[in-house]
Amino acid sequence: MDFGLAGKAILVTGGTRGVGRGISEALLDAGARVAAGYGGNHEEAKRFLESRATEKSSRGLLVIPADLAREEDHEKLLDAVREAFGPLDGLVNGAAIKVPEDQLGLPQLAQMAVVNAIAPVSLTYRALDFFSPRGASVVNILTVLKEVYYPEPPQARAMVHHGASKGYLETASKLMMDECRHRGVRVNCIAPGPTRGGGLSKSEATHAERFRHGQYGMKRRAEIADVAAAVLFLLSPCSSHITGQTLYVAGGQERAPFFYPRQKE
Ligand SMILES: NC(=O)c1ccc[n+]([C@@H]2O[C@H](COP(=O)([O-])OP(=O)(O)OC[C@H]3O[C@@H](n4cnc5c(N)ncnc54)[C@H](OP(=O)(O)O)[C@@H]3O)[C@@H](O)[C@H]2O)c1
Repeated sequence: MDFGLAGKAILVTGGTRGVGRGISEALLDAGARVAAGYGGNHEEAKRFLESRATEKSSRGLLVIPADLAREEDHEKLLDAVREAFGPLDGLVNGAAIKVPEDQLGLPQLAQMAVVNAIAPVSLTYRALDFFSPRGASVVNILTVLKEVYYPEPPQARAMVHHGASKGYLETASKLMMDECRHRGVRVNCIAPGPTRGGGLSKSEATHAERFRHGQYGMKRRAEIADVAAAVLFLLSPCSSHITGQTLYVAGGQERAPFFYPRQKE
C-alpha cells in the first residue's frame, strides 16, 4: 500500500536494531529518507548500513549515534538530521531499554525512565522547531505491558517498571498533543504486544510456546512488519485527522487482565 511517504524525512530513534530497524526499513522501502538514531552499538548500526548498501533507497539512510540519556546528544541528533535532510516530516520515538531484574536499583531505573519516558517527550519538544511547516507526525512506541501485567518471575518487576515508563510516555503524548496541533504536528502512540525479533522480547522459544497455548488474542506474537505498518500509517497523510491516540498492535492482548495465566509455582 502506498502511504504517500516518498521523499519524507523521518527520524527513528532506536532505528538501527530490532523493531526500530524494521520501521526504518519499511520507511526506506516506502521511499522515505530515514535518520536512524542509536545509543552506542556501532557494530549493529554499521551492519544495518551495509545491509542496505545495494539498495537504491540506501542513499536516503543515515545512522546517527546519540545517547538519549544525555541532553546534549538530543541537540546533536536533531542538528545532524537537519543538516542532512532539512525540515523533518516525522519522528518515531522507538529507543528504549529494560533493566535486568537483578539490577533494579534507583540509578538504573532513573536511567531507564529518562531513555524510555522523558527523552521522547523532551526530544519532541525540541523537534517542534525542526518540523516541516507543511505539518508533521510523531509516533511514540509504547508496549502493551503498560497495562497488562507480566506475571512470570524472574522478570515481573522489571516489566512493571518498563511498562510504567511507557505509561508516562502515553500520558505525555496526550497532554502535549494540544500544543503540537497548533504547530501542525500530530502525536500518536503504537502499543505493540511481544514482537518477534525485538531485542527486548523474552526468548523466542518461550514466547512461541506461550502464545500457542495462550487464552487470548490472535495466538501469535506481533511481527515487526505488523508494527511497522501501523507506524507508517500514523506517519502518513492517510491518518491526517488522527492525533492523541494509541493504536494497539497486540492481537487483542490489551483486553486480557494478565499477560498469560500464571504458571504453577
Ligand atoms: N521487543 C518487543 O517485544 C517489544 C514489544 C512491545 C514494545 N516494544 C518497544 O519497541 C521498541 C524497540 O524495542 P526492541 O525490542 O526492538 O529493542 P532493541 O532491539 O533492544 O533495540 C533498542 C534500540 O534502542 C536504542 N537505544 C537504547 N538505549 C539508547 C539510548 N540511551 N540512547 C539512544 N538509543 C538507545 C538501541 O541502540 P543501540 O543499538 O546502540 O543499543 C537500539 O537501537 C521499544 O520502545 C520497546 O519498548 C518492543
